[in-house]
Amino acid sequence: MFVTVSAPASTSNLGPGFDCLGLALSLRSVFTFEPSDELIVEGCPEAYRNADNLVLQGFRTLCRQAGAEAPTVRLTINAGVPVARGLGSSSTCIAAGAAAANAFLGNPFTKDDLFQICARFEGHPDNAAPCVLGGLTASFAADERFHALALPISPDWRFAAVIPDYEVKTADARKAMPKEISVKDSVFTTSHAIAMINALASGDEDLLAEACRDRLHEPCRRKLIADYETLRALAFESGASAFFISGSGSTLIAMTKSDETALRFTAAARDRFPSFDAHVLETCREGVEVKVEE
Ligand code: HSE
Repeated sequence: MFVTVSAPASTSNLGPGFDCLGLALSLRSVFTFEPSDELIVEGCPEAYRNADNLVLQGFRTLCRQAGAEAPTVRLTINAGVPVARGLGSSSTCIAAGAAAANAFLGNPFTKDDLFQICARFEGHPDNAAPCVLGGLTASFAADERFHALALPISPDWRFAAVIPDYEVKTADARKAMPKEISVKDSVFTTSHAIAMINALASGDEDLLAEACRDRLHEPCRRKLIADYETLRALAFESGASAFFISGSGSTLIAMTKSDETALRFTAAARDRFPSFDAHVLETCREGVEVKVEE
């Protein structure tokens, strides 16, 4: 049995939707699994070529939940999603491992079960939801379970993502968050998140420009990304409607409906920072996908 799993990158928060909004993007990692006499992990740095690999942790978690012994596999990773850059690479790994184990066991679990496993693993559901389900999602935790809502999104948005050649550790970015916020900032956050959902659905660029502002995490996190101010200025000079930190960073995303604007920004960013990666991405409607060959 040969199992191939493809999982999309995701951006979370989207400005004011901290730990809630998530969006699958058109950049994917592909993982192949085949039964093997010994554990083999290929296609990743040496440090991850062992049983602690996040993909295998996701794999074993699902097997454990099914009460089954995890088969020994040869895992090959083709990581299109950069690691530790705020594009949901952990979710791609956990979801891919869990989805592959599900296939090996004859699919006893639903997509929602995969989402639960992945969200529990991460501790917050905002990358797990779009990674497993695809598209734009709003998610939350209630009574020990995570819930994910699929939200409409205009197909016209372009997400011009600039990926620095340095990482920001999610743990550091979460530590930088305020412990408390004022009622005023809480109202600001809720109202802008609701407006953001509306702008994403309608494709209204003027509304997006107003809505995509955050007072909760971006003010403290922008300091962790050395080139934030320069890239923000380049994004708006290029004509973008909005600019935000993808997840906990370091990737920064400019939003626009114009292909020209998106390309202008990524070209300017590459010109200024030749060692950074830059892609013009779109919404990815498909979440984790599994193909089985006998
Ligand atoms: N919502 C999370 C955060 C995503 O911003 O900390 C990072 O994985």
